[in-house]
Formats: sequence, structure tokens, C-alpha cells
Amino acid sequence: MPAQVYNSIEEEIKALKRKRGAVILAHNYQVGEIQDIADFTGDSLGLAQEAQKMNAPVIVFSGVLFMAETVSILCPDKTVLVPDLEAGCSLAAMIRPEDVRKWKAEHPKGIVVAYVNTTAEVKAEADYCCTSSNAVKVVSAIPEDREILFVPDFYLGSFVQMKTGRKNITIWKGYCHVHVMIKSERLAQLKKEHSQAELLMHPECGCLTKSMEFADQILSTEGMVKYVRQSKAPEFIVATETGILHKMQKENPGKNFIPATNQAVCNYMKQNTLEKIVLSLERMQYEIKVPEPIRKQALVPIQRMLEISQ
Ligand code: 13P
Ligand code: SF4
Repeated sequence: MPAQVYNSIEEEIKALKRKRGAVILAHNYQVGEIQDIADFTGDSLGLAQEAQKMNAPVIVFSGVLFMAETVSILCPDKTVLVPDLEAGCSLAAMIRPEDVRKWKAEHPKGIVVAYVNTTAEVKAEADYCCTSSNAVKVVSAIPEDREILFVPDFYLGSFVQMKTGRKNITIWKGYCHVHVMIKSERLAQLKKEHSQAELLMHPECGCLTKSMEFADQILSTEGMVKYVRQSKAPEFIVATETGILHKMQKENPGKNFIPATNQAVCNYMKQNTLEKIVLSLERMQYEIKVPEPIRKQALVPIQRMLEISQ
């Protein structure tokens, strides 16, 4: 039979999705053309919640590996595919399960809160999971007298500590290589140049504490997208990965979006392409399956987080 000819790669993906009974979930940092063909786009929390609601037997997850692992943990009966196995995360690589085990051995009554940007093995050692959108809520739900280890993001951890006023938190010194590039001096200068603009910051930003006094909002990626929809401001300075500007600009053509720096590009997120999504659906590659014993353990902190953030 002659090979089917498609007018566009998007059409080809649609046909393959139908054939496989697949849906595409994409993180807000994905390139615009991937966001445009996705069935759902969102932040780490939204993507995890949405994956559970999807009826499709196959999920192509266009984001980074720890996010796909979270989906696999929550949806063990679904086939979770990623377009590229190189889509890691510099922040997730900064903490190992043995680091957490060591702290727990030294603090038998301590509680471990793992940011979602961690491997399944690290989550399996944690008591609670959190994302940028619910970290303050999760930590606030932990009894005051329990000592906490927060891993791996130092800046999100410091933000949570400030917001909750908790003294008994040890914060791991991990960071995201993209968000440390964003500098407070640059944000202050942009604020001066754009007097009507609101400054939106992701809590992973390395200059968060320094910029706090002039930041208008500190939000997760989807939190930012929702915020700009309802804000009356004509301009926004966006301090996070630049992929998010696509959705903001598309939804709000009359508003102006200024990236904190054009260099804030996550090379891991950008491993995914439309061509790799085609291959993923054609060959059913690359499947992410968390081994059952780890999955069962990692599910506990994730479910605790989902209950708290309802
Ligand atoms: P969000 O959960 O806010 O989308 O953040 C994920 C992430 O990796 C930020 O760098
Ligand atoms: Fe990880 Fe940073 Fe990329 Fe987010 S932007 S996926 S934290 S490396």
C-alpha cells in the first residue's frame, strides 16, 4: 500500500493520535507548535491532574522526564510515552535518593517535602510532594513541631519558608540552571523602562528574595497564564522560561509580554519536536514506566499533595 501523504505534520500527528487512541499533554515551556497540537497544556500540577482525567490509553507527554514519571505513577494502566529521553531537568539531578535517606536516618521524626522536580526514586523517599503552585499550602499542612527537609530547590524552599514563617526547615541547595540566569538588576531596569508593566516571577528564580519588593506576582507557570487573562495591565515582564510567552501572547493579543531575558531557555524542554512526536506515536517510543515498588512508594507523597491542593 502506498504511504499516506499528509498536507502537514500536524495532520499526520492527528491521524496517528486517532490510530493509537492517544492524547498529547504539553508543558507551558514547550515550543509553540507543540502547544498548538496538544490536547492540554499546563503546569506540573495541572498536567498531573489532567492525565488522571483523560480516558485515552496512550499519553504522549511533551515536557521533561520527571513530569512523565509523575503521570506514570498516577496512571499505571496507561502507556506514557516521551518524544525524547534526553529531556531531563538540571534541578531534579541535584538530589539523589541516598541524600534523602541520609537525612531521614539523622532525623527519624523529620518530614521530607520533595518538589515535583525530582526523580521517582527521590519521591519514593519523601512524605509529601509539592509543585510551585501549592508548595506553601503543602508545608502549611505539616504540624509545626515537625522538622522539615525541603528538596531540591533552594529558592522555592526559601520562598516557602518566608511565607510560612517556619524556622525548622532545612532547604537543599539545588537550583534550576535556567532560573538562576534571571537577574534582579535586569528586572529592576525593565520595571523602570515599562512603568505600566506588572512583573511576574516563578519561585524558582534565583533572584527571588532580592526582587520580592518590586515583583507583582510570584506564581507557577499556569498561575501566570491565568493571572494575565484577568489583569488590566497592558504589559507584563515575565521572569521564567520563554516558552510560556507563546500561550500568553496567543490568548492575549492586545497585551505585551517582555521576557526577563531571552536566554532563559530550557534546553531539556526544547528536546521535544513535532518530528519526534510523530516517531513517538509511530513506534510507540519511549515508554516511561516506573517500577512497581517505587511507583507505590512515590504515589503516597503525590496523593497527599493532590488532596491538599484540591
Ligand atoms: P511549573 O509547575 O510552574 O510549570 O514549573 C515547572 C518547572 O519546571 C519550572 O521550571
Ligand atoms: Fe528543570 Fe529548570 Fe528546565 Fe524547569 S526550566 S524543567 S526546573 S531545568
